Amino acid sequence: MPPSSHQSAELRHAALHWLVENDAVQKAAGVRRLAQAWAAGELALDAGAALTASPLIPGHPAKPELVSPLTVKRRAMNTPEGRAAMVHALVHIEFNAINLALDALWRFPNMPREYYADWLQVADEEALHFMLLAEHLQVQGFAYGDFSGHNGLWDMAVRTQHDVLVRMALLPRTMEARGLDVTPGTKAKLVQAGDHAVGPILDIVLRDEIGHVTIGNRWFNYLCEQRGLEPEATYAGLLVEYNAVLRRGPFNLEARRAAGFSEQELAGLGLS
Ligand SMILES: [Fe+2]
Repeated sequence: MPPSSHQSAELRHAALHWLVENDAVQKAAGVRRLAQAWAAGELALDAGAALTASPLIPGHPAKPELVSPLTVKRRAMNTPEGRAAMVHALVHIEFNAINLALDALWRFPNMPREYYADWLQVADEEALHFMLLAEHLQVQGFAYGDFSGHNGLWDMAVRTQHDVLVRMALLPRTMEARGLDVTPGTKAKLVQAGDHAVGPILDIVLRDEIGHVTIGNRWFNYLCEQRGLEPEATYAGLLVEYNAVLRRGPFNLEARRAAGFSEQELAGLGLS
């Protein structure tokens, strides 16, 4: 480990260290080692430490160039480059997802130990997804950074950095849950276009993402209970406040049910 990670014997310090890391492959590998160290009992947890944000977060490579979501080109599935661009978009989401999980770890103090263990597990799985998809992209003759990407996920992280309850509501429970809705369609498009190897990778992604949304639901509900808030009304209010109401499908009701959404919430999707 580099000398700058000497504090990484403590989980939240280490999470901040890897969040600052610019190299995507180093970051993913570092996060996977961190999860192993935690499982082996080699890491302490200081839930009470108030850590200072670095101006360098999130660390990210010079490429991909980050552009507005509106300027990301449509991907033509009938060309190898178009299919690679779509896989690249998935790699970029997973890279962002590693950063988001690390941010949930270091930023919010005084949560129960299980909260930190949960988000480390998420970070580890996102790192695995990143590696699998980046490798798949490489097999197709492209690398992470060859296409542009957008920064929508991290933008929402910035908007929700003041409150862990708002973060849980808007990131895992809203934006990651959106991933549950769209992943089956993305998989179908790629596989139909001849990219058969991506199918099993996206099955792993979808399976794990159900777990991540479940974790978001668990901690959102925990925080609502702690603050005496009614979860469904609180969530509905936050969606409006943050302009994040889902107006259109597809909705993967089965996956959302598995991740702990209530029937009442599922019935309300797309109706607002
Ligand atoms: Fe993921």
